[in-house]
Amino acid sequence: MKLFIDTANVEEIRKAHELGVVAGVTTNPSLIAKEGRDFFETVKEIVSIVGEVPISAEVISLKADEMIEQGKKLAELGSSIVIKLPMTADGLKATNVFSKLGIPTNVTLIFSSTQALLAARAGATYVSPFIGRLDDINQIGMNLIKEISQIFQVHGIKSEIIAASVRHSAHVIEAALAGSHIATVPYKVIESMIKHPLTDAGIERFLADWEGAKQNSF
Ligand code: E4P
Repeated sequence: MKLFIDTANVEEIRKAHELGVVAGVTTNPSLIAKEGRDFFETVKEIVSIVGEVPISAEVISLKADEMIEQGKKLAELGSSIVIKLPMTADGLKATNVFSKLGIPTNVTLIFSSTQALLAARAGATYVSPFIGRLDDINQIGMNLIKEISQIFQVHGIKSEIIAASVRHSAHVIEAALAGSHIATVPYKVIESMIKHPLTDAGIERFLADWEGAKQNSF
């Protein structure tokens, strides 16, 4: 399973990129708004940091023709731009147009397998089921990943599943086991995936033993 970073914060993207673990970036209007910067300038800077990996940038309109117009403007920012579209009838129409133009898309706000199937059939490159938000309403978000993964496998569907709305590192493991192709995770989740108390204790012990043995240092 590949890891994408779910943020519009360029410093977080830079740090995660340096770790060598990031295979893509996803943003959304809330994440962009949180940064308080110009949308296009932010996306351009993300392209300059990680231009070689897919970067999802979302349209704002709810009408297909306007989504297509906005998506085309975003696509001009680089060949790695993926047009993120909401899971609505208009979003599907726009997805289909982009698919025919060879422009990659990410259909977002997916909360059911039927939505995922429709998005895939409309030609979506990626479908984004939101795990955390389903958990928030007492549904088991991970079941949706399992279901979509099974449907896509049985029917040879090529769209990739991005497990989204990931809240903690257990979600990442569960998504991988459930067959998700990708998990898009906030930077703080990447940080928590690095840490283990036994790693910290082990380092402390190694260094104390080294000190005690009075070895020549490097
Ligand atoms: C995915 O592409 C979305 O940006 C994101 O995962 C939403 O997560 P949230 O439910 O934490 O806002």
